[in-house]
Amino acid sequence: MLVEALITWLHYLGVFVLVGALAGELMAFRREMSAAAQKMVRVLDLHYGASAGLVLVTGLAKVFWYGKGAAYYAGNPFFWVLIALFVAMGLLSVPPTLYFLRWRRSIGTATVAEGDYARIRRLFWLEAVALALIPLAAALMARGAEF
Ligand code: HEM
Repeated sequence: MLVEALITWLHYLGVFVLVGALAGELMAFRREMSAAAQKMVRVLDLHYGASAGLVLVTGLAKVFWYGKGAAYYAGNPFFWVLIALFVAMGLLSVPPTLYFLRWRRSIGTATVAEGDYARIRRLFWLEAVALALIPLAAALMARGAEF
């Protein structure tokens, strides 16, 4: 019981950090980026990736060992909605991460091109929409809802 509670706590902790990191990235990513701001965005992006990993590992632990059993989730349509949204979040975050990694060689004051700025912000917002819908899918999944 204690381990189950700890896994659930870590699942939520991961979600909180994920939300914080994405909100932070949305605020810190600007067209004019100082070296400090560039570093901050990169650190936030690292937290985004690490917390997504924590959410995934604890989510899988719930599916296989600490939830209602893998068979319950495999046959639950909202589990697959959750997984699809989570995968979408991951895929949407790839181009921004690659963009921030390119800064590594040239950390310093940077002006982000208008097209890149608009594209990355759009991807952030799409990630936020997917992230906002996942708890709904999780709540429906936990209650065995059907389409
Ligand atoms: C950002 C991503 C995620 C968020 C925001 C999230 C959120 C939640 C929330 C709010 C609950 C509690 C639902 C309730 O009891 O009403 C929950 C439970 C759960 N989550 Fe996640 N989750 C995420 C990712 C995942 C992933 C990727 C998996 C699986 C690989 C997963 C598997 C589970 C399982 C199995 C439960 C337990 C459901 C039950 O009580 O039967 N979650 N999650």
